[in-house]
Amino acid sequence: MTKGGIPSTFIDEVRAKNDIIDIASKYMSLTRRGGGFWACCPFHSEKTPSFSIKQDGQFYKCFGCGESGNVITMVMKMENVDFLTAVEILAKNVGLEMPTDTESDEMRQRKIQRDKAYAILKETTEFYHKNLLNNPESEQAMYLKRRGISKEMIEKFKIGISLNYDALPKHLMQLKFKPEDMISAGVIGKNERGGLYDFYGTRLLFPIANGFGDVVAYSGRAVGDNIERTKYKNTPQTCVFNKSEILFAYNFVRDLKKERMLDEIIIVEGHIDVIMCHQAGFTNTIGCMGTALTTQHARKIKNLVDNVILCLDGDNAGVNATYKAIDTLKEVGLNVKVVRISGAKDPDEYLKKFGTESFRELLMDAKDCVDFVLQDSAKKYNLEVNAEKSKYITEALNYISKFSSTAEQEIYLSQVQKLVKIPIDALRKSLHAKEEKPQQKEIVEELNENISNRFIIDSKIMLLSSLLYKKISNLDEISGLFTSNDELSKLYRFLVQKIEANADYNVSTLFDNFEISNNSLIDQVINYVFPSEDVYDQYLRETIKRVKLYELKQEKEALTKMMNESTTIEGRFAYLAKIQEIDEKIRKEK
Ligand code: UTP
Ligand code: MN
Repeated sequence: MTKGGIPSTFIDEVRAKNDIIDIASKYMSLTRRGGGFWACCPFHSEKTPSFSIKQDGQFYKCFGCGESGNVITMVMKMENVDFLTAVEILAKNVGLEMPTDTESDEMRQRKIQRDKAYAILKETTEFYHKNLLNNPESEQAMYLKRRGISKEMIEKFKIGISLNYDALPKHLMQLKFKPEDMISAGVIGKNERGGLYDFYGTRLLFPIANGFGDVVAYSGRAVGDNIERTKYKNTPQTCVFNKSEILFAYNFVRDLKKERMLDEIIIVEGHIDVIMCHQAGFTNTIGCMGTALTTQHARKIKNLVDNVILCLDGDNAGVNATYKAIDTLKEVGLNVKVVRISGAKDPDEYLKKFGTESFRELLMDAKDCVDFVLQDSAKKYNLEVNAEKSKYITEALNYISKFSSTAEQEIYLSQVQKLVKIPIDALRKSLHAKEEKPQQKEIVEELNENISNRFIIDSKIMLLSSLLYKKISNLDEISGLFTSNDELSKLYRFLVQKIEANADYNVSTLFDNFEISNNSLIDQVINYVFPSEDVYDQYLRETIKRVKLYELKQEKEALTKMMNESTTIEGRFAYLAKIQEIDEKIRKEK
């Protein structure tokens, strides 16, 4: 079995050699309490530790926010890296070489291509940056000065300039890079006559980095009187750049998170806005680069923080983008606040006009996104006209039901009430009607299932937890109970495979093989609390019996249905015989 091209035996070895307590102590301060280790959860802010790390099971679980995982997911989250990189970091930590022969040719080829692109982009960034430092009187340099961008920011963001169209290709040729690689890195173009030219010729360059700080693209701004050219020329999709994943300055904010507890990110539109915010000390600012935020962007943000402040431009386009961004960010579970810039067109202009302190106040006054929508969308309608009022109510209730908790709903409803001046009871009723309609059926079905099912699910959780922690041996007895394709049956098969192979296994193995969210069934298996030792054996026997009887009854029900549907006498007799067999089994069990 492999994962991401790495054999699972290697992953097991990496996990076994990196003790979770050892790794956790690199990221957080641990205290020993009641035979276990505790820390303040790094994934949500808290003052008293509710983050438990279990050495015997080699896993962690936060009783505050529900995050859980093993040593690999801990490194993934803390370093903000993917699975393979986390394995690599941990392998290095204990002096293990990553297996290379398992990579496919295609993967190897792609990696080589990416490394070449990174090298070219690194050289190009240096080249543009030196151009800027060596030409302080150039039109592009003067532009930066006029915009008030400091030397420190020029350094931090490695801002650069292109002076002409041919110096860059010449420079890269001298360094023995191949034209096709320069083109695929997105820095060089080829004209009809086959000549190479600087893709961003004469522009001011803002390098864009991935989460690790490697430059992957540029935004090239036209300066001077070259007004016929587009304002920005951006790197197209390349082997290292996908604009729906990359956010401007994300790398800096990610580094910031390693230095201190970070609980909020500010999102602005433009490059200059980002840079000026950083210059003013708001170093937790990132830029969406004028495009709509994607779910991938939102997930990346959620990896770092739980709270964002949207601070897009004050024009109509900015407000429309704000509405879209709220949906996308909320979907991944972020808390979203909104700042509406007024008196200036964007954060940069606002900072220049009103100063840092005023901007700080603006951020402090940021409105919860539902608040923002309720008030802003009211402006779109003439609430004196009934038809428009009713449209507004629909829109407002939609947002309230989508994005607020029951406790918040009352507050929002009273806000809407003030605007539309109809009784709050009526609003409450329509809100609840909206919420209940689509769910009603589900709730009824769930209830029916719950009565018979919940007990059985709990029983199965108990059995699997026994397999996991107590390594019970009466496998034969329960083998027939996990035959479907649900998560619990998958877990059963996984555990049995480990037991039969006599493999060493513990809780931490599960996190590599299952998607385990808070309160999912597998999470419940991991956190199952056993009855006391003296009654455990009896409890186990009863549980097995209960599940067995349930499965037998299910089978009988299915057979009865098939018998009733059968159109031949022979068929019906055959089913009847089977049903009698099951009846016999049920009788024995009882
Ligand atoms: P803006 O036009 O507001 O530019 O577009 P800006 O960088 O904030 O500069 P000023 O100070 O307002 O003039 C916001 C962002 O949209 C993207 C860029 O990322 C820009 O920073 N954009 C804009 C483009 O990609 N191409 C364009 O032609 C215009
Ligand atoms: Mn702007």
